[in-house]
Amino acid sequence: MIREIWQYLTTPVAFSYVRNKGFLKEAIAMSARARRCRRQWDKHYRHCEETIVDAAKDLDSRHTVLIIGAGSLRDVPLDYLAQHFERVLLVDLVFLKAARRQAALYSNVELIEHDVTESLESVFDGAPSIPQPSRWLDDERVDLVVSLNLITQLPLIPVRQLIVNYRISELQADELGRELIRSHLDYLQRFACRVCLIADRESVEYNVYDEETDRLDTWWEVEPPPETESWEWELIPFGEGRANRRQVNRVAVSIL
Ligand SMILES: C[S@@+](CC[C@H](N)C(=O)[O-])C[C@H]1O[C@@H](n2cnc3c(N)ncnc32)[C@H](O)[C@@H]1O
Repeated sequence: MIREIWQYLTTPVAFSYVRNKGFLKEAIAMSARARRCRRQWDKHYRHCEETIVDAAKDLDSRHTVLIIGAGSLRDVPLDYLAQHFERVLLVDLVFLKAARRQAALYSNVELIEHDVTESLESVFDGAPSIPQPSRWLDDERVDLVVSLNLITQLPLIPVRQLIVNYRISELQADELGRELIRSHLDYLQRFACRVCLIADRESVEYNVYDEETDRLDTWWEVEPPPETESWEWELIPFGEGRANRRQVNRVAVSIL
């Protein structure tokens, strides 16, 4: 607990809403859970790394790779990318110190704190406007884009904030969630290079008898693109979340 409080107080952030609206707290909580659930989560992280290496392997040119949602870097094959690309851009709203230390080991790796929805300021002002994000679309040196376990997370904090602070209806919340997901998908589809989307597709809860007790469409009813492979990520093992329940996400890969 002391470690988490220290992280909260000492992590630098580029935007005040990262601290005020809960992104930093989420990043710290996820990092603590990753340590506790290392045995279950490592398999998922290795799948992500292998997928990214596969997506990079047969590219004709490897100037710049853009990893969106790099976060903890636990699912990023950083050594490989730093060796095989001239420039590695790691994008997220928040980077804890461990990620900053890891990135600092490489002269061609850059951490960029950036809101990939390009809409959070307006959301937190209570007048959400979801534009088409545009950053890096015109950078011809980008040869590979990876959206990494991010797309289904984009609505969570913004929608929660609007419900609590501006009392938007359930219908408005659902529509905003869908808009944020669609807009990220459109953004990815507008890159001229190869794009690898790694994202959960559904989340299933089980009881101790291995019976399904709940199922969630993590895509807010947006149609995800066709997948090339998938695996299970035991996100919440027994003992972590609700009593006698575990939660398993199915994570899939799409090449756009
Ligand atoms: C499930 S985590 C995955 C992060 C990383 N791949 C990992 O496993 O540690 C989702 C990430 O999305 C980031 N994120 C959420 N909304 C974002 C936004 N609007 N712009 C950029 N990053 C965002 C969070 O900070 C978080 O690091």
